[in-house]
Parts: sequence; structure tokens; C-alpha cells
Amino acid sequence: MIYDDKPSTWKIIEEELNKPTIFKSRESLTPEYIPDNLPHREKEIKALVSAFKHLITSPGSFSQRVLIVGSVGTGKTVTARVFGRDFTRAAKIKGYNIRYVHINCHRNRTLYNVVTEIARQLEIPLPSRGLSVKEMYDAILGYLDESDTYAIVTLDEFHYFASIAGSDAVYFIVRTYDDINASIKRLNFIFISLDTSKLSLLDSTTESYLLRHMIKLKPYTSSELFDILKYRASQAFYEGIVDDEILRFIADYEGSDRGGGGNARHAIEILLLAGDIAESEGADKIQLDHVRKAIMKTSREIINISESILYSPVHELIILWAIIRLLRRTGRPFVKMGEVEKEYEVLCEVLGEQPRRHTQIYEYIMNLKKAGVIDARTSGKGLRGRTTLISIHYGPLDLFEKHVEDLIYRRLGVSKR
Ligand SMILES: Nc1ncnc2c1ncn2[C@@H]1O[C@H](COP(=O)(O)OP(=O)(O)O)[C@@H](O)[C@H]1O
Ligand SMILES: [Mg+2]
Repeated sequence: MIYDDKPSTWKIIEEELNKPTIFKSRESLTPEYIPDNLPHREKEIKALVSAFKHLITSPGSFSQRVLIVGSVGTGKTVTARVFGRDFTRAAKIKGYNIRYVHINCHRNRTLYNVVTEIARQLEIPLPSRGLSVKEMYDAILGYLDESDTYAIVTLDEFHYFASIAGSDAVYFIVRTYDDINASIKRLNFIFISLDTSKLSLLDSTTESYLLRHMIKLKPYTSSELFDILKYRASQAFYEGIVDDEILRFIADYEGSDRGGGGNARHAIEILLLAGDIAESEGADKIQLDHVRKAIMKTSREIINISESILYSPVHELIILWAIIRLLRRTGRPFVKMGEVEKEYEVLCEVLGEQPRRHTQIYEYIMNLKKAGVIDARTSGKGLRGRTTLISIHYGPLDLFEKHVEDLIYRRLGVSKR
């Protein structure tokens, strides 16, 4: 009786909830999801298994270090994760205690953060204060000894760690066992980097250590992407929702042999978005036009950059937001550091955040530059001395602004006003 005169919101909610969905599992297309299989990465998984086989055949005999390189979306992260998941599982069945740790260096940028993160993921209790990095590291090694455990630690986006934490920090990690006399070596590493040139700032011995075992992931071709999309679509959508023709269209758009980036992340993002668009239009199948719209709504560069800023401190993001807003508003190719600071302060006020100081702001800007998110250079000496000029070379900026803005609001845990 009460519902005779249903409020319109009630109707809307009911209709939305009762609408049939084309997704069997939408989450399986999100970036965090780790699939069961990796078509076209069998060779690389095999190479990883043979690199770490000694953990089972002669545990502790040496500490392995493998470097995985490849451009964005070639499957570096997922290959390491799938290997880690399945290798430790297989070892466990055979009665070996091997742990896998995956650390994203955009999130953990300092040696201190990386070491505490290793301890956290291995569930090793460390006193919360008072220990130096070296002492913490020794505590981790000691704990592994006591519990007779071996570990494979992946440092993802390692080039970023190298540029921010510096070569001493890299040396500390890469050459873990050089200075200690351990008869059983329990820590092993996978380093993931965009390319090897980013590691050249290291001293040559450390660099050659890293380059000794290298697995290179090539951008995916159109036919490889087709197989990947076919597999991922079969998990994400009900049968009959996506035809091969649709998958081939996306694969051809992104395939490296067709002039695309060979980036599986981009291809999957387009598929997910096309599914969302089809669903919002009430279609019962994904059509080419949904894919075209999805392609319009994605930008290669923004997808590539979006991973670099996913874990940025929130004030770094607010500064980035200020830069984008200024570039859009002024229509100029670059903006000055001073202008950015002012805009940043305004945004902080809107967000109810306490602005950071000048030196911290400068450091964040340099971090964004190192991550390839912005360009920053010093102007020639003008009337008022030097200043830093900041620009962004990709776009579209309105899409990028929306992306950054959403990320900030999500991070601050408040809804948009
Ligand atoms: N061979 C593959 N099979 C299935 N999915 C893949 C494959 N390679 C990459 N992906 C998916 O593509 C996306 C990008 O892969 P990712 O490992 O994040 O790339 P990278 O770390 O090289 O930038 C992820 O969603 C991942 O699950
Ligand atoms: Mg990655």
C-alpha cells in the first residue's frame, strides 16, 4: 500500500537493479585482477621458472636476480604476479616454503618504505621505531632463517625507485649478499623496468648485475591481442555478448604490427568501456559503435600515465591538478612554477587541505617530472631571474583533468561538491 505512490527514485533504483547485465564478471577486466592464464607469455613464465628453479633443487645456493623489461601494457606486472602465485603454490605442494612479495615502487619510493613493505608482506613483526634500514633488513633475513623460508621479492616500476631513491639504495638491494657472509641465501629478486636505459644512472657493476638475467617483453601483435581479448572477454561477459569481429577490431587498433602500441592494458580498457557503454544504452550485445565511442573516450597517453600517478601522494596529485587547470585556462604551452603554487593553494582551500611548503612542492614537481607525467625545465635568465617552466605534451587535458580530479576525491575519501 505504501508503495502505491512510489517515489521516482525508488522506481529508478528498482529498474536499475532489475536490468539484465551483459557482464558475468566486470571486475575481471579491472587493472587489479589477476587472470588464471596468460596467453602468449608461456615462454616468459618458463624462463622465470628456470631462473628460480634452484629454490627447489638447491635452496639457498645463490640469490637470483632477474630483470623484466617492456613497454607499458606488455604484461610485466601480471607475468611476475602470475608466476609468483603459481610458483609458490607448486612449491608448497612439494613441501617447500617459498613466499612471493610484490612491491610497486610508485607507492613505495624510498629504501625505508621498500624494506618495511617487504617485512609487512612477509608478516615479519618489526619494532615500529628506532631501527635503521640496515637493522630492519637484517631482522628480515634473520626471520627467514628462523622460519626456514625463501622469498622472491618483485620490485615493480624499479626505474622509478632508481631515479628517486638513488644508486646507493639500488646498490643496497641488488647486492644484498655481497657484504654478508650468508651460507644460505634466502632473498631473491625480480626487478621490473620500462627499459634498460633508465638504469644507466647506476654504477656499472650494479647495472651489469641487473642486466645479467633479462627477460624482454615485446609489445603484443594484433593476433596475440585477439587471443588475450578473447580469453578475457570469455571471463567477463556472458556468451554471445561480444562477437569475434568486435575483438578483432580492438586488436587491430592496438596491435603493434598495425601501428598500435601493442598495449594489452589499453585493449582491455577499451573492451571494458565498450561494455559499459553498451550496458548504459540498454543494448544486449556490444556493437562496433560502442567500441568506437570507447576508443574516443580513452587516450593512450593518459592510460599510460594513469598508472604512474595511481599511488602518488595526494598533494602531488593536487599540484598536478593545478598544472592541468592552468594549462587549460591560459591556453599556453607552459606555466610557471609561481603560478602553479598559487593555483595549488586555491585548490587546497577548496579541498580543505593544508598546503605544503615551497620546497615540498618543488620536490613533488620533480617527482612528477621523473615519472614522465610532466615536463619541467628552467627558463633562461629573464628580468626576474630564473623560473621553472612546466608543460604537458599529451592530452586531451579535459579527460586528464577529470581523471586526476576523480583520483584526488577518491583518495581524500570525500564526494565531489
Ligand atoms: N598475456 C596476457 N594474457 C591476459 N591478460 C594480459 C596479458 N598480458 C597483459 N594482460 C593484461 O593487460 C593489462 C596490462 O598488463 P600489465 O601486466 O599491467 O602490463 P605492464 O605491467 O607491462 O604495464 C593487465 O590487465 C593484464 O592483466
Ligand atoms: Mg606494470
